[in-house]
Amino acid sequence: PPVDTFDYIVFGGTGDLTMRKLLPALYYRFRDGQVPADARIIATARSPLSRGEYQDRARQALQEHIPPASLEADTVTRFIELVHYVSLNGAEAQSNWADLRGLLDQEPETRIRVYYLATSPALYGQICENLSKQNLITEQSRVVLEKPIGTDLQSANAINDSVGRHFPENHIFRIDHYLGKETVQNLITLRFANPVFERLWTSDAIDYVQITAAETVGVEGRGAYYDRSGCLRDMIQNHLLQVLCLVAMDPPVSLDADSVRNEKLKVLHALKPIRPSDVAIYTSRGQYMRGHVNGQTVGSYLEDLGEGVTSETETFVALKAEILSWRWGNVPFYLRSGKRMAEKCSEIVIQFKSAPWTIFANRPAANRLVIRIQPDEGVMLSVSTKDPTPTDSLSLREADINIEFEKAFNIRYPDSYERLLLDVVRGDPILFIRRDEVEAAWKWIDPILQGWSKNEAPLEPYPAGTWGPEGARNLLAQSGHLWHEDM
Ligand code: BG6
Repeated sequence: PPVDTFDYIVFGGTGDLTMRKLLPALYYRFRDGQVPADARIIATARSPLSRGEYQDRARQALQEHIPPASLEADTVTRFIELVHYVSLNGAEAQSNWADLRGLLDQEPETRIRVYYLATSPALYGQICENLSKQNLITEQSRVVLEKPIGTDLQSANAINDSVGRHFPENHIFRIDHYLGKETVQNLITLRFANPVFERLWTSDAIDYVQITAAETVGVEGRGAYYDRSGCLRDMIQNHLLQVLCLVAMDPPVSLDADSVRNEKLKVLHALKPIRPSDVAIYTSRGQYMRGHVNGQTVGSYLEDLGEGVTSETETFVALKAEILSWRWGNVPFYLRSGKRMAEKCSEIVIQFKSAPWTIFANRPAANRLVIRIQPDEGVMLSVSTKDPTPTDSLSLREADINIEFEKAFNIRYPDSYERLLLDVVRGDPILFIRRDEVEAAWKWIDPILQGWSKNEAPLEPYPAGTWGPEGARNLLAQSGHLWHEDM
């Protein structure tokens, strides 16, 4: 069924995120009948474009980012009719607010308004202040903030304060698109709808956990942003810590948004601090060099940034996190992410302990549960079975119990933004980050950044197209553990 009708006002309407993710996501949901025919998408940006010119760009974006089989001409035409454009500098009080107000005033004040800030986070506060001065924040208004919320705890607090002056916390939706991924949401189901897993989900049975988000792309055109951010801030502080929370949290008392977020927050609070002087023990950071990815020669990070540039920014991080709690005592959580790695793959590996004793001649391998976030969303459990090869002794062989969701359910897996964009309209914050979560995450990340800035852990080069620097392997080897590709 369609959601209640709405105006989606996007600041940064000509930007990459709007074109690549937001418009295609809204199109899919429109096509599936979830976006009402009188909803409006009001893009704003500084460029002086007419509505028609912007609609042409929007149509092009759909053609670029949606496979032709999903683009029905008539549906595209009806969707494009929902799109409006206002040329406006949201950060300036004197800009063209009258046009935006004129458009919004055409509808009753009770209509849901979503202000989506797809701009530089440095502008969030000013945009909210201007919305407030212009009286555009109604009872039914929400604001969506894209990451990064700050570059450390202090700057995150400044951003949250400046937005919080104009919107109450329950109308602020901090988006983390990893929470929109089906298999990430499925973690809650897998764990709490299947006692067979949850009963074993403790240090009694689990040896260690790995969470990987590996990409084959380099920094693409985003060098200016990325070089100031680096992998720890870009991927670990948000996406990977969020996934860790869902893997590690205790069962929430209900599926109410705050019950879930309270449990996630407890995990963040229980993370053992990594002191700046200990970063060499707990972290590995790297930067890609020239190499080969998918059979093609690619340049180094520095070459990607441009001629004559030097940079100490990390494009790869691996780290060992420990959770100080009854459930997770002595179970390391290894997190890693990187650009220009051997494969595009995001997954969680739960490595179970081996049996305390064996009656078999060859020792059975410990069970392993692999939750594939992307591509090929699925769940795989490795088990030991009898080797069917006829011999006179009983020997063992490993096999996989493997579910591939797309095949099993025969359904297209939606992009992560699709669900999240309409959850804002529904007013359901379960898949969004609460302010205290952002703060707790930065509190844990800040000392690592401090240790690195004092060069307590060296930046190691790694060839593009590999699984990262040697330091990442050593991080696990110290405890006799292996990364998935080495198992
Ligand atoms: C973004 C990061 O949040 O996530 C990018 O800023 C990264 O650097 C992207 O490429 C990865 O998302 P996904 O969905 O492709 O895993």
